[in-house]
Amino acid sequence: MYRSSKGRTGQRRASRIKTVVEDMDEYDIVFVGCPVWWHTAPMAIWSFLKSDNYDFSGKTIIPFCTYEETYRDKTLAKIVELTPNSKHLDGFGTIDKNADVTNWLNEIGVITVNN
Ligand SMILES: Cc1cc2nc3c(=O)[nH]c(=O)nc-3n(C[C@H](O)[C@H](O)[C@H](O)COP(=O)(O)O)c2cc1C
Repeated sequence: MYRSSKGRTGQRRASRIKTVVEDMDEYDIVFVGCPVWWHTAPMAIWSFLKSDNYDFSGKTIIPFCTYEETYRDKTLAKIVELTPNSKHLDGFGTIDKNADVTNWLNEIGVITVNN
């Protein structure tokens, strides 16, 4: 269904992001989430992670994505690839917008669930 041709989605060129997270230095852990677009993360994610405004080195990046049928793993891997100097925890991808993320967050140690 999703072929490699690019649509009118800005996927051919870097997206310009209008806002800046001013206090990124305050965060040790950053969840980076997006929908899968054309087999990968949307260009806005590439722009965000490559932005000179931020230094993600040493931070923990946790990727997650929503998708319809394909390229979940490639999209999660792209977020990892775009943050080579960061630590990473196992990502999560779902086709279910109401997915319960409790088990995932428990497995990666972000929360503790007492059973
Ligand atoms: C331009 C575009 C490209 C997409 N490409 C893919 C794709 O390659 N694989 C896939 O499984 N879903 C693809 N989708 C479906 C989206 O990933 C899905 O609609 C999205 O994750 C749902 O979240 P949202 O409601 O926040 O957009 C695409 C959607 C759009 C709009």
